[in-house]
Amino acid sequence: MKTGEFDMRYRTLGRTGLNVSLLSFGSGGPSKLGQNTGLSSNEQNDLIRQVLDLGINFIDSSEGYGNSEEILGRGLEGIARDSYFIATKGMCRDRHGKLRDPKKFSAAIDKSLKRLGTDYIDVMQFHLLNMDDYDGVVDTLYPVMEKAREEGKIRFIGFSEQYKIEPDHRTVTHALKTHPHLWDTIMLKYGILNQYAAKEALPLAQENNVGIINMAVIREKLPKPKLLGDQIKAWKSEGLISHDALDDSNPLGWLIKGEVRSVVDAGYIFASEHPGVSTVLTGTSSISHLQNNVRALQLPNLPESDTHALKRLFGDIAVYI
Ligand SMILES: NC(=O)c1ccc[n+]([C@@H]2O[C@H](COP(=O)([O-])OP(=O)(O)OC[C@H]3O[C@@H](n4cnc5c(N)ncnc54)[C@H](OP(=O)(O)O)[C@@H]3O)[C@@H](O)[C@H]2O)c1
Repeated sequence: MKTGEFDMRYRTLGRTGLNVSLLSFGSGGPSKLGQNTGLSSNEQNDLIRQVLDLGINFIDSSEGYGNSEEILGRGLEGIARDSYFIATKGMCRDRHGKLRDPKKFSAAIDKSLKRLGTDYIDVMQFHLLNMDDYDGVVDTLYPVMEKAREEGKIRFIGFSEQYKIEPDHRTVTHALKTHPHLWDTIMLKYGILNQYAAKEALPLAQENNVGIINMAVIREKLPKPKLLGDQIKAWKSEGLISHDALDDSNPLGWLIKGEVRSVVDAGYIFASEHPGVSTVLTGTSSISHLQNNVRALQLPNLPESDTHALKRLFGDIAVYI
């Protein structure tokens, strides 16, 4: 879609066949659609309109993101339902930490539909699926999703990983090796400082035509030079990168050149370069950041020498940050 100076690119979301914008919009993360950054209802509505006006057609939410589903329901009211795709998520565990009761999971899907003000969810995902829950979810909660799909309440089934406890993507690789047919999409984290998915998870997803939704690609070190510098120092002292590899005060400044105006730009571009990635989420609550991130994903890939350097530096690190 051409939208003035912005020209959005689209990719196919794996076997779903959905033609999704390369940049997609996340209503969770630190900003939660402005719930954590002080946006008024009108500003939230404006942000949602801007998302669509810029050619973004894939929006992610969860029952666990505060009021994000309601805010989206309100902001999307009156907009043609077939002009965007909605993904949301249901938690695998209840508040006591037990695997959720299937009836309650089913009721949770209905509640999400109501909050979002829609008759169907394009992609329904298990939120934060990990190895402890995997078998239980497949045996007891997956059938609930299947029934919802038969009833037309959801179209496709996926899950998001819990990268904090599994930075090696073990649930993703396990799922893709044991039950690739079950998963239409998987949400994982792949970026400059989180490249481990390129080892096995992303190639397996490509082999099985599973759509990859790339999350939290800049959070939260890339936009913050101090945090980034501290992280690089820590990795040096842990022996994960060599002491003379990067400058501590501006470790990724060398990526800024030509049209790449910031480390954040480089972060979005790198996160979209892997052919296994269908779409890259941005969890911003700022219209100017949104415009910046859309612009970044219209730029060509990083220079090959920079991409190679990033892979050499961080490609083997599987640590939660
Ligand atoms: N396991 C899961 O299911 C899971 C986990 C994490 C995320 N997600 C999904 O993925 C989406 C994206 O992840 P995320 O929101 O955690 O992380 P993210 O998109 O990588 O980063 C969001 C943060 O970066 C800031 N930001 C965005 N663009 C910026 C720019 N151009 N310059 C400076 N700062 C910028 C945002 O602040 P501003 O608001 O000020 O722009 C916000 O603090 C979430 O919204 C959610 O939908 C899912």
